[in-house]
Amino acid sequence: MTIAYVNGEFVEEQNAKISIFDRGFLFADGVYEVISVLRGKLIDAEPHYARLQRSLDALSIASPLEQAALNNVLLELVKQNDFDEGMVYFQVTRGAANRQFHFPDPPGPSSLIAFILPLKLIDRPEEITGVKVVSTEEIRWKRRDIKSIGLLAQCLGKQQAAEQGCHEALMVEDGMVTEGTSSNAYIVKDDVIITRPLSNKILAGVTRKAMLALAKEQDMRIEERLFSLEEAYAADEACITAASNFIMPVVEIDGHQIGSGKPGPIVTRLRELYIHLALHD
Ligand code: PDD
Repeated sequence: MTIAYVNGEFVEEQNAKISIFDRGFLFADGVYEVISVLRGKLIDAEPHYARLQRSLDALSIASPLEQAALNNVLLELVKQNDFDEGMVYFQVTRGAANRQFHFPDPPGPSSLIAFILPLKLIDRPEEITGVKVVSTEEIRWKRRDIKSIGLLAQCLGKQQAAEQGCHEALMVEDGMVTEGTSSNAYIVKDDVIITRPLSNKILAGVTRKAMLALAKEQDMRIEERLFSLEEAYAADEACITAASNFIMPVVEIDGHQIGSGKPGPIVTRLRELYIHLALHD
């Protein structure tokens, strides 16, 4: 029996229901977060709450709970499910209202739901083999810094990847990689870690921030700049980061082998350091 959370109540998943008039359902008028769980512990929860608040503010959606109360909900969800490893998903929408495009006035209560997503995060075969990715055209809107639940472009990209036996799709705009459909993207060339700088063009990944901090601690060289797909094909190493992947080595892009075709030393080291931090912090 798996327990989910819906607007104040912990219920069995099959009884977790929301209104057909919920604006999340009708307009994708909502935002979400995904926090990884390892050995029953929420990893790096704080910056996820901060990003949720930022997304809510950007869309003028009222926060349904204070951060401490939200944290308690997620901890309780983990506890009730005796949840060990994977992710917690939570989303806030503007709630149920008559179907009118503008915001309800006065605003109704926001809706908050949460559920668990079991997934192996460490000791995955892909950390030894690396993963393959494809490129796809960037077709999203211009506020990719908001973690919107409107994910159709990402679903199309991920489907394209799946059809080609790949793990992820890197989105490309004007020849330059923005990010993965649900991850941030990096290449390594001549021992320099290269990743796109933060802007409204990409999501400010929590794992990205943690990885760059680790890289800095190790005196690794980092360049936050745009990189092209062509440059990525010729990289020595590549990786993606996300709560769902941690730091995942990429060994093939559009059929082009990256480096030796095996996870490279810099990415492998960063993944090890990240997992060590997640387990022991
Ligand atoms: N996605 N970029 C996009 C577009 C994302 O959807 C995600 C995360 C990231 C990485 O962010 P973080 O390191 O904070 O997880 C970057 C989540 C995992 C998802 O949609 O499942």
